[in-house]
Amino acid sequence: MDREAIQERFGIVGRSQALMNVIDRVRQVARTDITVLVEGESGVGKELIAEAIHELSPRRHEAFVIVNCGAIPEGLIESELFGAEKGAYTGATEQRTGYFEDADGGTVFLDEIGEMPQAAQVRLLRVLESGQFSRVGSSQVRTTDTRIIAATNKDLAEEVQAGRFREDLYYRLSTVLIDIPPLRERKEDILPIFERFLHRYAQKYNSSHRELDQSAIELLQRYHWPGNVRELRNVAEQCVVLLRKDTVTPDDLRPFLRGVTSSSGSSNLLPVARSAPGDSSDTRERELVYRALIELRHEMSELKGQIGKLVAALGVAVPREAFDRGDMPGERSDYVLLGESKSGDYASFIEDVVYEIENGDDGPSANGGPGRPGAASVERSPEPEPEPEEESIPTLEDAERELITKALKRFDGNRRQTAKALGISERTLYRKLKELDEDL
Ligand SMILES: Nc1ncnc2c1ncn2[C@@H]1O[C@H](COP(=O)(O)OP(=O)(O)OP(=O)(O)O)[C@@H](O)[C@H]1O
Ligand SMILES: [Mg+2]
Repeated sequence: MDREAIQERFGIVGRSQALMNVIDRVRQVARTDITVLVEGESGVGKELIAEAIHELSPRRHEAFVIVNCGAIPEGLIESELFGAEKGAYTGATEQRTGYFEDADGGTVFLDEIGEMPQAAQVRLLRVLESGQFSRVGSSQVRTTDTRIIAATNKDLAEEVQAGRFREDLYYRLSTVLIDIPPLRERKEDILPIFERFLHRYAQKYNSSHRELDQSAIELLQRYHWPGNVRELRNVAEQCVVLLRKDTVTPDDLRPFLRGVTSSSGSSNLLPVARSAPGDSSDTRERELVYRALIELRHEMSELKGQIGKLVAALGVAVPREAFDRGDMPGERSDYVLLGESKSGDYASFIEDVVYEIENGDDGPSANGGPGRPGAASVERSPEPEPEPEEESIPTLEDAERELITKALKRFDGNRRQTAKALGISERTLYRKLKELDEDL
């Protein structure tokens, strides 16, 4: 496949010599099993390049497993990568395979390799040298046929100097080194990439096409792009979403660029270190609102997920009058309706529920006091597996533990899939497992 075809196929935009060199390297190494180290600042396209190598390789029909070494807590990384026998560590209730076993025949992409702890570095070196490894807690030697692509946004040679990264591993990993320069060192790529994203977002948001005036183009080229292509993409998205005009000027752009003053009407386009205190154009405000909305949307969906799980785990009970008043969203079948609450006080009812969630159900709630879920007067909506009415409500922590254990079991201990199914990040799952472990 020639360069252009590769660019087209993987959406790698740009025309700089530096990018051409990167693509040529991709073409050369793709057919081999050689280990590749991709270096570059955050957002330059390391993952995009790693994926292209895998997809162009004879291993393309096998797994491409992405492991973010920086997201996995130190204590777990070895078992994640190499697997663990039952009982190898607290919480290892079942034996589990590691990524190197899962990816046998395929490629493992070790992202943020500079974050890998020393003990795991030793095991990785062994895999690189002989294809051999053993699961944590086992001495049985296993072999894997896995191609390794690693990436880092740190200067690994410097990490070696500082004694944080093994020198022998560094040399093994960097058999082929692909260095992707930051955008500010390949300015010819800025405009084509930006235009590609403008076009893509205009389609996505069903919006008219935006064009940049000459000074806006110059501003884009003079900006230092600390977040590289990812930041460029976000700025293009903001132009499409936030601007209500087809021609984009520097004044429109400045608020979207980190650390660039919004000196409206001035010809000073140079970036400065920090945004000025009085930096508050309409667009700036809109951008802040936009960002806040995006964050809020994430928080809302996380909250919704948690409430959903709580409803599923506990059944939510509300006083009938709260439902009748239309205070509660959704259908009647979403709730366990309590008969007339004697107190009639919704706030104190909620306090009761919160108390029970926090303190378990061994207190007065079990005696059928007014407004308590689990009380004898509860009218339960049909449930697939009705629980005995007297059964106590588990604590939130127990419910969470049970849920996580069930999900882990379902996915054979695969944390990536488990986290996905639970709607939480892998990092959150690790944190939760750790918290739960500590109580064991
Ligand atoms: N040359 C390019 N053309 C088009 N899109 C690109 C290009 N380079 C990167 N991108 C896009 O920019 C975004 C960031 O790229 P990617 O995730 O590969 O960067 P990264 O170097 O792995 O970043 P990080 O170090 O933060 O993990 C992705 O959406 C990717 O598709
Ligand atoms: Mg990445």
